[in-house]
Amino acid sequence: MIKVENLVKYFNNEAAVNQVSFEIAEAENLVLLGTSGCGKTTTLRMINRLLEPDSGRVWIQGTDTSLQDPSKLRRGIGYVLQHHGLFPHFTVAENIAVVPKLLNWKEDAIRKRTFELLEKLRLPAQIAGLYPQNLSGGQQQRVGLARSLMVNPPVLLMDEPFGALDALTRRDIRVEFRQLEELKNKTILMVTHDVQEAFELGDRICLMDKGEIQQIGTAMDLLFNPANAFVRSFFSDQRTQLEFKTVMLTDLFTSRGVPSKVSVWDVLENRTDAGAEIPELPDILTAFENFKRR
Ligand SMILES: Nc1ncnc2c1ncn2[C@@H]1O[C@H](COP(=O)(O)OP(=O)(O)OP(=O)(O)O)[C@@H](O)[C@H]1O
Ligand SMILES: [Mg+2]
Repeated sequence: MIKVENLVKYFNNEAAVNQVSFEIAEAENLVLLGTSGCGKTTTLRMINRLLEPDSGRVWIQGTDTSLQDPSKLRRGIGYVLQHHGLFPHFTVAENIAVVPKLLNWKEDAIRKRTFELLEKLRLPAQIAGLYPQNLSGGQQQRVGLARSLMVNPPVLLMDEPFGALDALTRRDIRVEFRQLEELKNKTILMVTHDVQEAFELGDRICLMDKGEIQQIGTAMDLLFNPANAFVRSFFSDQRTQLEFKTVMLTDLFTSRGVPSKVSVWDVLENRTDAGAEIPELPDILTAFENFKRR
């Protein structure tokens, strides 16, 4: 769906992005993870051509984006900006309507879709007439998400979509985000520097450092088969919790009856369905240690 090949971008003779390549399958969610300044936003902006790469190519749905008209390309890609990026002098409804207006949607259709999305994103309809500064941080980020979804683009680029929120609100929004029907079939490239967020939302994670990819893989790959010392040390302060959240009971026990999609962490937190056939905790922990030693 999205293919990025050897992207390079220099600022002031320094590579902000160096030889970055990856592919994202249709309906996949790839998370770009890395510390501040490692080149995440720069990578994102080269995909919708807000920035032109110094070298390298990007294909979306098989089309080389460098051959497309940039503004036309951007209208077909949802973009959630870092720090929500709403226009301060536009109301919520006007902010949301920007792209549909460019596409000459009728007023009626814009209004209908606006209120549909406000409802889906659990925003009160009354906020449509408010200005961004009169919303809470969480509401602003939801409006940013609504704006990116308006014309139902197949591809979404999201730059720290929950960045401005406190940890608790973030966790709640992440749960909602995973359940949102509108997002289920989208191909998503999401940027974050939050490891928990990356693990919860990414089908795969692309870990960057100093403009270069250190490893791309599933949470399991990054934790248990780190490509280098950087990857190993990146997760060190939260490693145990991440491992407990990533390893599922079905990874540990082949016996039938073990429920799927239940992690070791879920058992430790007692978040399992009553009546589910959960092995005894000591057995789980022994199996977990054996799994790690494999
Ligand atoms: N327009 C620009 N002019 C000069 N340098 C830039 C420009 N944009 C980005 N950079 C530099 O490129 C590097 C990568 O920046 P980028 O914004 O991609 O990082 P990031 O990973 O998104 O960081 P953060 O997590 O803080 O948002 C940084 O060193 C940054 O200072
Ligand atoms: Mg950034």
